[in-house]
Amino acid sequence: MSTLKVAVIPVAGRGTRWMPISRSVPKELLPVWRRTSASYAFEEAVSAGFEEIIFVISPDKHDVLEHFLRFDASDLGPDYSGLSWSKLHERVRVHACIQEKPRGLGHAILCAEHDVAGRPFAVLLPDEVLMDNGISMLLDCSPAVLLMDVPFEQRANYGIVVPEERDGALWIRDLVEKPKPEDAPSSLAVTGRYTFTPEIFECLRTQAPGLAGEIQLTDAMRRYTAAHPLRGVIYRGVRHDVGQPSGLLTASLDFGLRDPEYGDSLRAAVAELLKK
Ligand code: UTP
Repeated sequence: MSTLKVAVIPVAGRGTRWMPISRSVPKELLPVWRRTSASYAFEEAVSAGFEEIIFVISPDKHDVLEHFLRFDASDLGPDYSGLSWSKLHERVRVHACIQEKPRGLGHAILCAEHDVAGRPFAVLLPDEVLMDNGISMLLDCSPAVLLMDVPFEQRANYGIVVPEERDGALWIRDLVEKPKPEDAPSSLAVTGRYTFTPEIFECLRTQAPGLAGEIQLTDAMRRYTAAHPLRGVIYRGVRHDVGQPSGLLTASLDFGLRDPEYGDSLRAAVAELLKK
């Protein structure tokens, strides 16, 4: 059984790609098909057996916490239809800590240090919706990061790892944030699923601001992995980037077309649109 019990879901970012909507509605509450975009990461954590989920929210995002405090087990996928609201909330403690100002993803995770309280923990970025449970793939080899093979031209959008194969496993030797595709050390990009030991907080606390003047998780991970060997696990399933409009729409269509109730009518409507 996994020793990882606590998962951190940071939702305190600016959401600039969703302006002007995000000025009044947190992007995490935008719908992806029939659920909120952040509920997929939440369900992934619940399904992987986490017992405590900490949202890192900005002072104006209490609605996100409210949403998950009211989240009913029947809102989850079919695996949970036997669970009631009270059973879900008995099994999973949901709470939040505040990031006063958006000072970067690394800083957001540092804000959870007090609540993580010296335990190993997972991080799930809700902008990434994975069709298969990614975080559960890391439980047996923690600390670890989920990786994805990306095409050459997309390498500049991601943190790319310098991988190393040792003892039949994949290890992260180093990371390069958003390299030029021709300078990328591999095709393996970091996706938004990680597990860490609490020593990552020391790396975050002492991390100088990087790109955009923010405390970058990637920078802290470079120092962390030098002392705490970090495994890499390759995810080969479907992934949608719902942090931007076309990714959110594609994810909605993907879920919608699989929906037993609406799939057929949606397929017909999309086919009609494509004729135009
Ligand atoms: P992103 O940089 O991809 O998203 O952060 P963003 O800042 O929310 O949106 P844009 O880029 O302005 O459109 C990745 C994850 O880290 C969280 C975000 O909420 C998102 O889940 N984050 C980022 C924080 O919690 N705090 C920060 O200061 C920055």
